[in-house]
Amino acid sequence: MSRRRYLTTPIYYASGEPHIGHAYTTILTDVLARFHRQTGAETRFLTGTDEHGPKIAEEAARRGLTPIELCDRMAGRFREAWDELDISFDRFIRTTEADHIAVVTAFLQRLHDKGHIYKDRYLGWYCIHEERYWTEKDLGPGETCPDCRRPVRQIEEVNYFFRMSTFQERLVGHIEANPDWIIPAVRRNEVLGFLQQPLEDLSISRPQSRVSWGVPLPFDPEHVCYVWVDALINYVTASGAIDPEAAPDEQGFGAPIESWWPADLHVMGKDILTTHAVYWPTILMACELELPRHILAHGWWLVGETKMSKSLQNVVDPLALIATHGVDAVRWYLVREMPTGSDASYTPERFLTRYDELSNVLGNLASRVTSMIARYRDGALPDSAGQGLATETGEALGRYRDFMNGLRLHRALGAAMDLARHANRYVEEREPWAQARDPERAPDLDETLASLARCLTVLAALLEPVMPAKMGVLAGTLGLARVPTLDRALDAPLAGRAVTRGKPLFPRVRLPSA
Ligand code: MSP
Repeated sequence: MSRRRYLTTPIYYASGEPHIGHAYTTILTDVLARFHRQTGAETRFLTGTDEHGPKIAEEAARRGLTPIELCDRMAGRFREAWDELDISFDRFIRTTEADHIAVVTAFLQRLHDKGHIYKDRYLGWYCIHEERYWTEKDLGPGETCPDCRRPVRQIEEVNYFFRMSTFQERLVGHIEANPDWIIPAVRRNEVLGFLQQPLEDLSISRPQSRVSWGVPLPFDPEHVCYVWVDALINYVTASGAIDPEAAPDEQGFGAPIESWWPADLHVMGKDILTTHAVYWPTILMACELELPRHILAHGWWLVGETKMSKSLQNVVDPLALIATHGVDAVRWYLVREMPTGSDASYTPERFLTRYDELSNVLGNLASRVTSMIARYRDGALPDSAGQGLATETGEALGRYRDFMNGLRLHRALGAAMDLARHANRYVEEREPWAQARDPERAPDLDETLASLARCLTVLAALLEPVMPAKMGVLAGTLGLARVPTLDRALDAPLAGRAVTRGKPLFPRVRLPSA
């Protein structure tokens, strides 16, 4: 029996519309969640919106809204986008929920009670867009943010600090002892490189007078919690690991209570790896909670050479692509095209190439197989002990599982597509149209058709996590009520299944001209 899985996406800022970058992270996590469910693991998949902090407050003011009005609207926009993209999340968290605020308050109190917090004067530069503090040496030319290149603000104020530096050695030890804690290795090395410098303490508060849209510190309500600390805690809130109502020693810190924590995997873009791989684990250590089991930092979707981002006004709207090609083609493109961990460029041409792969290889195979069974066997799927394609199918299953478990999703999808290519070649080699002309070769034809149907059934199972709707349709045309699980796909009984000749799975479409 597989164990339980708890997977998370970042929670997205409620200040902007969802775009392909957000969609990619969320789809990647969705594919993994569906894969784990398929293998029988009890799975919890968390996503949501990050709703506190000056960035949200300023955007709301710009639009003439209160912060919560903006958050309500944007949380709705993200939920709609995830519905359209067929995201199977189990929980959508919003950091303005009372339950979450209570957990953040409990964390802050715990850090304070355990002596991990002190008050000090802060002098430095702040980038509101990235919600990050920078020191002078970090800044770009003309006092700009090194990440987004916007002007930064110089700030001098009293803050509360978390003694992050005291956990540096433990963190380095953890990363060194667990080579696959941060995936891929290139990102792990970056974090280790960063940790070669002395780690500074982390400012975890903002004065109410400057930032009012946040969670007040329980030990000094004149200050609100730094939005990143508030945001990271969402992963624990949604796991049920902390009961803020309980007595301090029974809340779940130090002595765990039954919950989904620790997360098996935090998925995110490389832009927010430091917060997840440095701030977050040290906060967890200080609160005596287990660390997440793995952190996957994927690359960026670029347009040309530049990161796609709202501020650069070069974002691709995933919903517009759905309108022309359907949701599954968008999911396929994003996961198939970007090697997990590297950057990739979005171009309409590549989108079409990947779509053609679906229609020419998989769609073509499905339509050939179902129409031959309809034509030659009147839609009744023949049974046959013949083992055509058995080796290729078994191998594809094994490779697919290994790649998925190793978080190399693009390779897993590649392995499935290779199997479809093999199956198309098998059709050419076996020439079922010739077998059909000769009544004496009826057993050969049965074997060809049964082998192809078996292979297509496995393909439906392999591709279901990435294309749930289309693979449901494919399973239906193969006479199955639903897509079988990976374990069952190879042995799903063939005899007596009624095969229908469906409409093309991936019909040819033209992108509207720009
Ligand atoms: N609110 C924080 C996250 C807090 S998690 C405790 C945040 N939000 S965000 O809205 O800016 O989303 C950032 C995430 O969106 C990235 O980590 C990445 O997952 C995704 N992407 C945003 N732009 C992207 C690309 N151009 N390409 C790929 N993914 C990117 O940061």
